[in-house]
Amino acid sequence: MQHEYPRNGESTHPSSKKPKLSSKFITESDIRDEFSHHQQRVARINNGSYGSCPDSVLTAQRRWQLQFLRQPDAFYFNVLRDGITASRETIKDLINADHVDEVSLVDNATTAAAIVLQRIGRNFAEGKFQKNDTVLMLHCAFQAVKKSIQAYVTRAGGSVIEVRLPFPVNSEEEIISEFKKSIEEGKSNGRNIRLAIIDHITSMPSVVIPVKELVRICRAEGIEQVFVDAAHAIGSVEVDVKEVGADFYVSNLHKWFFCPPSVAFLYCKKSTSSSDLHHPVVSHEYGNGLPIESAWIGTRDYSSQLVVPAVLEFINRFEGGINGIMKKNHDEVVKMGKMLAESWGTNLGSPPEMSAAMIMVGLPSRLCLHSEEDAVMLRSHLRDRYEVEVPIFHQVYVDREEGVRDKDGFITGYVRISHQLRMGKLAKCFIRNEEAVIKVGEGFHGITCVLPASDVCCISQFLKNRIKGGQGAARKNWNF
Ligand SMILES: Cc1ncc(COP(=O)(O)O)c(C=O)c1O
Repeated sequence: MQHEYPRNGESTHPSSKKPKLSSKFITESDIRDEFSHHQQRVARINNGSYGSCPDSVLTAQRRWQLQFLRQPDAFYFNVLRDGITASRETIKDLINADHVDEVSLVDNATTAAAIVLQRIGRNFAEGKFQKNDTVLMLHCAFQAVKKSIQAYVTRAGGSVIEVRLPFPVNSEEEIISEFKKSIEEGKSNGRNIRLAIIDHITSMPSVVIPVKELVRICRAEGIEQVFVDAAHAIGSVEVDVKEVGADFYVSNLHKWFFCPPSVAFLYCKKSTSSSDLHHPVVSHEYGNGLPIESAWIGTRDYSSQLVVPAVLEFINRFEGGINGIMKKNHDEVVKMGKMLAESWGTNLGSPPEMSAAMIMVGLPSRLCLHSEEDAVMLRSHLRDRYEVEVPIFHQVYVDREEGVRDKDGFITGYVRISHQLRMGKLAKCFIRNEEAVIKVGEGFHGITCVLPASDVCCISQFLKNRIKGGQGAARKNWNF
């Protein structure tokens, strides 16, 4: 399709009106209705991966989709550009950016990473960067982002410094100190660090990183540019891009901000030479600036980018708006985490103040989680058998002596629990005989999940037997 007037995305800057906080707050029953499309029996303790979208926002999305289908040309020429600009304006105000042109809407954090890293790759290709110039990242950076570094930096001749962070972590200082150490080591090897990639909230294991301090260190050390991967940030921690001070900052809107999948904002600081940033999919608007390029990348469904004002209306039905939701989720997830850790005789992966709406909780060592494969098997088992959805992290010890122990041995596995509104409320967690029990429920669900725990037959052996022998055999063995 040829667009004679590719004016989509032109910035007319309609002022975004901040909806006032409602005087009549949302009720528990309204919340249940808003999420009644969720499979009711499933205990979602994993909001972190995909987020959740309320019915009122899905309705708004459907309205946008129908408006497009009713008269696509009128929608494209008269509606789309203003709609996307209104969403960008809303985000600009929320994140304290200076100008709407600093805010682009893209599909997700993975796309944003490609935008930033492809530019680094071009700098190598065009001879602006030298072989072995470096990108610095946290060793627990998101796997898809690591692959992007491999594709666009390593293949172009660049090198990578991985900052190894301690886990479990006890304080921000531990992270700051490792970060400084890695920069010093890189510099002493004569590396020129062209870009630092810092997670705001790491995915696995999940920890809130002292991002402001790390960006400040990068500036002091003369690192050219900083990209903050804040995929989990907006809606779970306060986001002030000016205070953070990075050149690029991406956050998914579909994780903790109630947008439908998938949409993220990418903030690019105006003063950064951002003119050479491009959307990975080249379309009509190539060369007109990233926000405009991203607002028309061919014929597709743009509805998830258009519902941001509707999301804000939903959020403002809660007491305290987004800050109220954030506080409640944090308080609840910490409560759940402490309860689990106490009843399992284990530990939290970080102090509560280094968590937002997700927290890591040690699994009893008696489960003998020995590998990534064990973690995946256990997660599948909890999903298939108990309808409990929770990511599981396998802890690899570089130095066993530094490991954390419970009464039976080293803790080698952690669950990452999330709290979002009423979803995933943990009512009770305890050890019963040889089993670690999670009871999920309080009205919304009512599920008891039993993790077999025994020093005679560890979880991996149990699950392998279960796969070999079928569920019946396992049930017989373990009295499920
Ligand atoms: C830290 C981090 N970065 C990037 C991503 C990728 O997000 P998406 O799959 O929406 O692109 C995730 C997803 O969970 C993440 O946790």
